[in-house]
Amino acid sequence: MIRQMELGDVPRVAEIQVFAWRTSDRGIISDEYLFRDMTVVKRIDYYKNLLINCTDENYVFDDGIIKAFITISKCKDEDMPDSPQLSSIYVEPFFQRNGIGSQMIKYFEDIALQRGFSRVCLWVMKKNDNAISFYEKLGYAPDGTEFTGGLGTTEIRYIKMLCFNSSSPLSSPARHNNPPRL
Ligand SMILES: CC(C)(COP(=O)(O)OP(=O)(O)OC[C@H]1O[C@@H](n2cnc3c(N)ncnc32)[C@H](O)[C@@H]1OP(=O)(O)O)[C@@H](O)C(=O)NCCC(=O)NCCS
Repeated sequence: MIRQMELGDVPRVAEIQVFAWRTSDRGIISDEYLFRDMTVVKRIDYYKNLLINCTDENYVFDDGIIKAFITISKCKDEDMPDSPQLSSIYVEPFFQRNGIGSQMIKYFEDIALQRGFSRVCLWVMKKNDNAISFYEKLGYAPDGTEFTGGLGTTEIRYIKMLCFNSSSPLSSPARHNNPPRL
């Protein structure tokens, strides 16, 4: 099931993030950052702070083991104010290519649709070929907007126009587990 992240999930979430990031971004981001500066302990503090002080929404995929998580925020780009943005998605490397990431993306899109948004966005590192293949498979396309982030990597914005589908599990408010509004 996909459910809201709780404080008790944070150590596991930090573990997934650190190991998935190292696996996906080695060669894109420096080894010093990935293996020295970024630690599970630091990420535990980061996610605790995110849950307590931030309006971003966090969801985990939990089938008895937490295998993935996403963070959803409001887009801060001037040309897409308040559009739902997928700020992060991480699937435990051992459980990748099992459709979990696709389920998390569907959940994000269903939340956006339920709130009346027909367009969603995300940013991805230009060199993250695997993530780009994943997003493109799910119907996302680059809109030509780029920026170079703090780690010296170029990121590109991907968007997707959503279609309302009445079979969506979240399209019925009665079946929704009441995620907070963006
Ligand atoms: C990108 C990520 C979220 C995908 O999650 P996942 O659960 O493995 O993805 P799915 O199993 O739902 O894959 C759906 C489709 O996306 C594409 N895809 C997924 N991972 C891919 C990869 N590594 N290489 C190429 N295509 C990939 C495939 O078409 C796949 O379908 P298939 O398995 O039938 O061929 C996961 O690999 C991950 O957490 N990566 C590390 C973190 C990251 O890069 N996050 C994105 C940052 S912007």
